[in-house]
Amino acid sequence: MQTSPSLLLVAKSTSTVGKRSAFALFPSPSLLGLFLFLGQNESSEVAEPEGPSEMLRDKIFLVGFMGSGKSTIGPIVAERLGWDFVDLDREIEREQGLSIREIFQQSGEPEFRRIETTHLRGLKNRPACVVALGGGTFVQQENHPIVSEMGVSVFLDCRLEVIEARCPVDGRRPLFEAPELVKELYTTRQPLYQKSDFSIDVSEIDPMQAADLIFQKVTTRK
Ligand code: S3P
Repeated sequence: MQTSPSLLLVAKSTSTVGKRSAFALFPSPSLLGLFLFLGQNESSEVAEPEGPSEMLRDKIFLVGFMGSGKSTIGPIVAERLGWDFVDLDREIEREQGLSIREIFQQSGEPEFRRIETTHLRGLKNRPACVVALGGGTFVQQENHPIVSEMGVSVFLDCRLEVIEARCPVDGRRPLFEAPELVKELYTTRQPLYQKSDFSIDVSEIDPMQAADLIFQKVTTRK
């Protein structure tokens, strides 16, 4: 079932967005009571939208390691909300005319990260959407305020054994090759992913169940 894409969440400014204040508009009665809840803070403080510093927070960002299911689960959540789905890596590939692997090979990881941040910023002007970030996007701390200004982040937490069983070493992901490096990356990134607004454990559930959980998380205070 598709719901209206017009769920709007307006926050006062980047400084007050934090985890606390939100002001939601519900143009569609079917979405009454549905809002993107900001973080785990239970505060009911509400910020009134004000002039030019108003922000539209109408995006859900899926965060997580390679193979955690961001690109599979994202379209299901988007469909449920009647929103667009954006896969950040695919957007980069389209715009650059190169695969992620080729960008890494030709320009190196720092340049890839620069391009990634530019694309992330570019989402500001897009309509409501669910975004599958790359596995390293949320690892770059400079990307956190960009994400929180636009919407909520949801970490798809998945055990490494499950990821390893699921993810082929097929050369498509330049950072998913040597098992020791994968393990090290996984371990060092976990605490950064955990800075997301919400986390769900997707190790034992299927994509539909994960999408249901995300929907519940972002629309209620559970
Ligand atoms: C990366 C993950 C990839 C892609 C790039 C770097 C990472 O995205 O952005 O290869 O640093 O973990 P997926 O998580 O969609 O595979």
